[in-house]
Amino acid sequence: MNMPTIKITYSDIRLQQDAETLAEKLNLPLIDFSQIKHTPVAEVDYFLEYASDGLCLKPAVRSNHGPVRCNFNSGANVHRRRHGGGNGQAIAKAVGVSGKFSPQVLDLTAGLGGDAFVLAGLGCQMQMLERNPIVHSLLSDGLQRASIEGQGDTELAEIMARMNLLEGDSATYLNALPVDKLSDIVYLDPMFPERKKSAKVKKEMQAFHGIVGADEDASALLDLALVRARYRVVVKRSASAGYLADRQPTYSLEGKSTRFDVFALQKLPI
Ligand SMILES: C[S@@+](CC[C@H](N)C(=O)[O-])C[C@H]1O[C@@H](n2cnc3c(N)ncnc32)[C@H](O)[C@@H]1O
Repeated sequence: MNMPTIKITYSDIRLQQDAETLAEKLNLPLIDFSQIKHTPVAEVDYFLEYASDGLCLKPAVRSNHGPVRCNFNSGANVHRRRHGGGNGQAIAKAVGVSGKFSPQVLDLTAGLGGDAFVLAGLGCQMQMLERNPIVHSLLSDGLQRASIEGQGDTELAEIMARMNLLEGDSATYLNALPVDKLSDIVYLDPMFPERKKSAKVKKEMQAFHGIVGADEDASALLDLALVRARYRVVVKRSASAGYLADRQPTYSLEGKSTRFDVFALQKLPI
């Protein structure tokens, strides 16, 4: 996979320090906001930009797609939190959330935290892991902003208190844990190989594919997950995809365009 060229920038002089810190951490070039329009598009694919409404990934060619950012307190995330169907959602059933049981979930593939946010909203204690430094930066920024916004919103503050993010590779993390350390549920949603020429793949998703690539090591992660979960391992797949690692789950639950393959290891406590 050809890694896209990314430059860090900021939209406002007050965000310069944040941008400098991120550029240093990610070891990526920093450009002053006044230079963006003078940067030839041949020299850069994306800008990772600090703006007043958060960190976002913007394509250098504006018509390609809109900015990708992690927003827990607006749009689809707020709508799903209020009207998403609660414990009746396929993801909730797959993980085993009920009025009586709110499991602790280890999310090995956090991405932009959408699934983790849904589960935390239903009461699950989420430990998230993300290894891609760009994606981790976007998620970390989204969590930080939502925590600040949560100061005026008790429900949001409670959800944020249930979401914890670590940066790093999940396989390395699991291998370093004591052998008897289990999580109630281990959750995996690895990237797919890109579906070529599919109009269904949203442009933002294509950007994500460009940055992250396919998670070719996901089968090995499933093997590790299966010995680290107390009750279940849940694998999210697209509805038409085959089983991860060709492993037949105990059962599957269908969402709209996705499927949750459930590997049941032990009966839930209640
Ligand atoms: C499809 S996305 C997950 C989307 C997420 N469920 C959401 O709702 O936003 C997959 C993510 O998992 C991350 N990932 C894949 N394998 C990983 C691993 N072994 N350790 C940590 N992160 C991993 C990728 O970098 C990518 O960001």
